[in-house]
Amino acid sequence: MNTPTQAPVDSINETKGNTPLVRLSRMSSDSAISIWGKLESFNPGGSAKDRSAAALLEDALMRGQVSPGGTVIESSSGNLGVALARECALRSLHFHCVVDPRANSQTVATMAALGATVHHVTQPDPETGDWLAARQTKVAELLQEFPNSINLDQYSNQAVFEAHSQGTMREIVTQLGHAPSHLFVAVSTTGTIGGCLRYLREIDANTKVIAVDAMGSVLYDGTRADRVLPGFGAGVVPELSRQFTPDDVIRIDSPHAIAGARLVAQREGFLPGASGGAVAAAFLSMINEFGDNDDAVLIFHDHGNAYLDTVYDDDWVRRNVCEPESLPNLLTQLNPDHTTNDEESA
Ligand SMILES: Cc1ncc(COP(=O)(O)O)c(C=O)c1O
Repeated sequence: MNTPTQAPVDSINETKGNTPLVRLSRMSSDSAISIWGKLESFNPGGSAKDRSAAALLEDALMRGQVSPGGTVIESSSGNLGVALARECALRSLHFHCVVDPRANSQTVATMAALGATVHHVTQPDPETGDWLAARQTKVAELLQEFPNSINLDQYSNQAVFEAHSQGTMREIVTQLGHAPSHLFVAVSTTGTIGGCLRYLREIDANTKVIAVDAMGSVLYDGTRADRVLPGFGAGVVPELSRQFTPDDVIRIDSPHAIAGARLVAQREGFLPGASGGAVAAAFLSMINEFGDNDDAVLIFHDHGNAYLDTVYDDDWVRRNVCEPESLPNLLTQLNPDHTTNDEESA
């Protein structure tokens, strides 16, 4: 048994960050590539958004934009809502979160259990057909309704870059002992990838940074289409995305994201969320481009528990995405040379 090494801490927030970097040894048969997963679900609220929420709120408190007793109003696809609900509970702030029907029910229940008031938008924006635009309209209404309230605006607030630059990316480089050759990051507000890019540029690293976007997202000149999975992709171009440019953008559709998530779950023994599945699929689509001794880091933003009734549920997949029987073949088609360790040894 491992000897416990963690000293007692004064607040749940002190367990934030320093998330594990875990070797993924069963995703590829190519043993020359080191593949690593940065497991952000080990944060206290279960996602990378714990880092973003703390940075956004600390900045607002420092600037005197909000103080105990005040009200924070934010739109979220789910994880930032949970993270801000935690932060607001710890700081005696009221929190209102605007979500749309794509948010996982467990995630919405979690933010409510942490004390958030949840507002559901039930129709997309009438002009664009977009859910994010509808959520932002609702945020504007709530700001009028509640005196002494602020919106942290995760889509344009650059405070978030520092959390992922000095947190997520610095940790990865320290854990590995060097900057990886490739980094795969799912994007929505682009706060995570922007912070990672900032740190890598600062240390003059040669890392190729790949943005993993959703098919149907308008980020990086994407073409708008319906998206069913929460977490990654955007229906409105966030201001943050104009600050840093990734080296490459790969767009992943829902079937491939689901297939990627299921593959990671069954090969590596942990459940990623939908965006983690997309990151795995993006990595596999590029595997033939890796040279010997390359190493790839895949950031897994959250945990699959909240997706058990969607990504991991065959009936839901059949109703909303595709025939679940077609999923296992999808990753092989992405990369015809791809064989898993199991297939090789079979
Ligand atoms: C599960 C998941 N993956 C990826 C992202 C993208 O992170 P960012 O908004 O920093 O681009 C988010 C953001 O909400 C998320 O919740």
